[in-house]
Amino acid sequence: MPESVAVVYFSKGGAAARYADVVATELEAAGHAVTTIDLRDARRLALEPYSTIVFGTGVRIGMVYWRARRFLKRKELSNKIFAVFLASGIAVKDPDKARRKFLEPLLARRRLRPVMAVAFPGMLPGAGGKLEDKTDEESARVWARELATRLS
Ligand SMILES: Cc1cc2nc3c(=O)[nH]c(=O)nc-3n(C[C@H](O)[C@H](O)[C@H](O)COP(=O)(O)O)c2cc1C
Repeated sequence: MPESVAVVYFSKGGAAARYADVVATELEAAGHAVTTIDLRDARRLALEPYSTIVFGTGVRIGMVYWRARRFLKRKELSNKIFAVFLASGIAVKDPDKARRKFLEPLLARRRLRPVMAVAFPGMLPGAGGKLEDKTDEESARVWARELATRLS
């Protein structure tokens, strides 16, 4: 059955935003009704219209972004199909490590049980404060296709 999906993201460097686009495109291609929402533009985001929430964000200085942590406190999430992705520097070399280090403790604290949780490679800070783009859209496509099958 097609689900009504909100792909919600909060990004600073652009990686989570890009992954949100990729995930939304794949879920739509699989027949789901998808709305993509930047948390920056959503003051009071109503989650009632959606059966499924896919949330994506990033991490800096060892902390998942504050706005993202606040979003993950929302009570409605436990009544939804929920999936989450993280963009991280550590995930450039070791996505599982990034997931274990940043996502799993946060999800456990919020008592959230996503159907899928993953870390993708993000933007790496380099010389002179420039961000080096290490994003891997293909891994997000593969992840989203798997998610789409779990929603059907
Ligand atoms: C100032 C700064 C600090 C960062 N600290 C971390 C970190 O502690 N751990 C990590 O895995 N990645 C770290 N990163 C990499 C980010 O996770 C990466 O840039 C990711 O793309 C952030 O998501 P966003 O682009 O959607 O904002 C850092 C990046 C910056 C710019």
